[in-house]
Amino acid sequence: MQFARFGRTGLSISRLGLGTATFGKQTDEAASHRILDIAAEAGVNFIDTADAYPMGADLSLVGRTEEIIGRWLKGKRDRFLVATKAGGPMGVSSWDQGASRKHLLDAVEGSLRRLGTDYIDLYQLHIDDPATPLDESAEALDLIVRSGKARYVGVSNFLAYRLARAIGRQDTLRLVRFVSVQPRYNLLFREIERELLPLAHEEDLAVVPFNPLAGGLLTGKYRRDRTPEVGRFSAENGQFGALYQARYWHDREFETIGKLQEVAQGRGIPLATLAIAWMLANPRITSILLGASRPEHLTDTLAAIDSALGADLKAQLDDLTMHYRRGDAVR
Ligand SMILES: NC(=O)c1ccc[n+]([C@@H]2O[C@H](COP(=O)([O-])OP(=O)(O)OC[C@H]3O[C@@H](n4cnc5c(N)ncnc54)[C@H](OP(=O)(O)O)[C@@H]3O)[C@@H](O)[C@H]2O)c1
Repeated sequence: MQFARFGRTGLSISRLGLGTATFGKQTDEAASHRILDIAAEAGVNFIDTADAYPMGADLSLVGRTEEIIGRWLKGKRDRFLVATKAGGPMGVSSWDQGASRKHLLDAVEGSLRRLGTDYIDLYQLHIDDPATPLDESAEALDLIVRSGKARYVGVSNFLAYRLARAIGRQDTLRLVRFVSVQPRYNLLFREIERELLPLAHEEDLAVVPFNPLAGGLLTGKYRRDRTPEVGRFSAENGQFGALYQARYWHDREFETIGKLQEVAQGRGIPLATLAIAWMLANPRITSILLGASRPEHLTDTLAAIDSALGADLKAQLDDLTMHYRRGDAVR
């Protein structure tokens, strides 16, 4: 395993982290625990979840993912950096989501209970909530850290200008500062290289991207003319299936994957390994959140840690996917 400093904190964390969004819906508890075991055996010490996982139309499932992780963490809590998020829908009341003081103070209690822990290492805003003043969320998060319920705070899915404003308010008000950002990032979606990564570099924020395989597309397992019946891109996945189709299921993306496959085959490594290795080769990326719905999925992605890209190969992949960095590729 490789380790990296977590932004401006004193923490060192594994450069591969484990995402858990499949746990409790697509992946049952036994398989989820096996996935956690495999990641831990490989040296992963960073686990990411969210109170609203597993996400979907069915609110009766929310919280299950944290419960599954909580049961696995028993007896080994201190060996892992546990990150969760608040802001996604947790109930039917109008305040059961978002980043209001009321919701955040309630949400942290729920996460602590489900995770079976008395502290969260990294507490993240799952989304930017423009309806709540930034100062209100920042003050609530400050209280959460000062009361010992969380050790660090971060954001996910924030635009660079909003994060810059939020940090400015935290500094002005002398509140606990965000230390990390969790954006979507992969070979087919490089928008963050334009503004968010430079901001993170300047402010020494940890960057922990999600969706490194574009929901599985960057394994090369899909064909443009065959819509899958199960998994991330399927109709069975409801609104998220439709969302992933809209994001990635296009001629241009499949053409790029064809070219990336040729490169991977030429090097004799699986495309999934190459896609993760490309992210690891970027020193501005702190830790990559791997996703898996089956234990065997981790074989190719964990292998990236031993597949350092040379400068030539990194440059070749950068060039092949340059158009996903520009504004015209943003969906
Ligand atoms: N902050 C946010 O808004 C946000 C959003 C999304 C995710 N996340 C976090 O980031 C984590 C990872 O994101 P992600 O799940 O989108 O990552 P991803 O790597 O883009 O997609 C993971 C999916 O790809 C497929 N897959 C992975 N490895 C494979 C392999 N070797 N062979 C074949 N298929 C494979 C599986 O889906 P199928 O089984 O369906 O094919 C798996 O669930 C999540 O678990 C979550 O913790 C955060």
